[in-house]
Amino acid sequence: MNTQNAAKGLLRTKSIEDTIQETNDSERSLKRELSALDLTVYGIGVIIGTGIFVLTGTAAKQYAGPAVALSFVAAGIVCALAALCYAEFASTVPVAGSAYTFSYASLGEFPAWLIGWDLILELALGAAVVAVGWSGYIQTLLSDIGIHFPTSIGGGTDNHWGLNLPAALLVLAVTALLVVGVKQSARFTTVIVAVKVAVVLLVIVAGLFFIKGSNYHPFIPPTSKAASTETGGAQPLIQHLGFAPGAFGVMGIFTAAAVVFFAFIGFDVVATAAEEVKKPQRDLPRGILASLAVCTVLYVSVTLVVTGMQKYSLLSEKAPLADAFNATGAHWLSGFISAGAVAGLTSVTLLLLMGQSRVFFAMSRDGLLPQSFSRVHPKFKTPYRSTILLGLVVACFAAVIPLKALAELVNIGTLAAFILVSLGVIILRRTRPDLPRAFRTPAVPYVPIAAILSCLWLMLNLPVNTWIRFGAWMAIGLVVYFGYSRRHATHAVERSSVERNAMERNATERNATAPSD
Ligand code: ALA
Repeated sequence: MNTQNAAKGLLRTKSIEDTIQETNDSERSLKRELSALDLTVYGIGVIIGTGIFVLTGTAAKQYAGPAVALSFVAAGIVCALAALCYAEFASTVPVAGSAYTFSYASLGEFPAWLIGWDLILELALGAAVVAVGWSGYIQTLLSDIGIHFPTSIGGGTDNHWGLNLPAALLVLAVTALLVVGVKQSARFTTVIVAVKVAVVLLVIVAGLFFIKGSNYHPFIPPTSKAASTETGGAQPLIQHLGFAPGAFGVMGIFTAAAVVFFAFIGFDVVATAAEEVKKPQRDLPRGILASLAVCTVLYVSVTLVVTGMQKYSLLSEKAPLADAFNATGAHWLSGFISAGAVAGLTSVTLLLLMGQSRVFFAMSRDGLLPQSFSRVHPKFKTPYRSTILLGLVVACFAAVIPLKALAELVNIGTLAAFILVSLGVIILRRTRPDLPRAFRTPAVPYVPIAAILSCLWLMLNLPVNTWIRFGAWMAIGLVVYFGYSRRHATHAVERSSVERNAMERNATERNATAPSD
């Protein structure tokens, strides 16, 4: 194959009509039974978790002080911009697989592979991170009632590694639930989400009574080199490019935003359920944007209350919400909050794993991963093979790998996926202006460009080591793609240059006549 053909092969796309059509194959398709409300619940179920319950403490204490509330606003704005792009894609290509499917239809096979590979990082590793967080909270609850879990099988201590058995068991239990079916999972999720939101509201309302104005001074602590214990590879990449240290000050707000971004991961997972939504064109954008809006309001309220209750420098990094109540003497409230965190983190683990299995399912259906994984269960109609395989892998991750660096790796992978989706919106508007779009991203290309730049900015605020690990993950992806996927892709069609030129002409003509956004 000459160089030109090879390059074309990398950008071969799968037609959007084919993408939608093949979901009619009953052996390889999922049941459509979710509504916009189900999706919003699903979104909130996956969004509120380790980010607010655990990472708020680290972000406030190490990077932003009380201004961590602004970090949540910044991360929320980045996500809202990306969500506007996600919503257009999701309502145009309503098929399982999220950003992976969208980019296959618009950007081409190779970018789609990269993004699918990214999503595996986001969802599988994200589920492992949350399961480890869950394990910490459940052990705290157990120790409150006098049951002490041996550290050798409870995730170890700061200085000694230990197997994290509770985290692995949670992942396996959740996997079994997902194999049984999405409806059961959605019902289970609804109950847990109600508990989780009630606990978050409890923190906000009860916490108001314990706020001391003096804790907000200074609201943005002055930039401090000394406060940052991080050196070399642990420093944000942006610092190596000549920007101020990422501890406190205005730059600290962004460093914290790059960390608490984890708290917003999940609204995009809603899009992975596209194939199971009754009216995807209408309900998917509604579900994505509504869940994101609700969570942003809750996060900013919680962080303002918690940093008002306790001086930021004293916040706990393990269980900051519960410990802020302990510090004020309200121990009974702290127990409630820990229990809510356990319920909340359970639902996040479940939904991340569910999203992950759907991406894997979609990639396998396209032949980029072995096709046997895309058979649905004859009775439950769930993609049981990919669910079980991924469940086992994530359980192993959760059992052996510690938390913080993993969360940053999840963030960088997700931000990279958001950039590709935003790019996809711009490209698809040009190449397929004819497609019906129930939701149209406003002000294209400005909103997608703003999404791309803001995601890149957060990525630059992540540590150098995270960039190196991300590079290594993507390099492994390239080996798998060129070693297996490229030869096994089944649905891709290589467009002839005549066909491509005709499409481009068509797009230009339509753009010339279409009303501007
Ligand atoms: N947003 C999810 C969490 O914070 C992943 O746990």
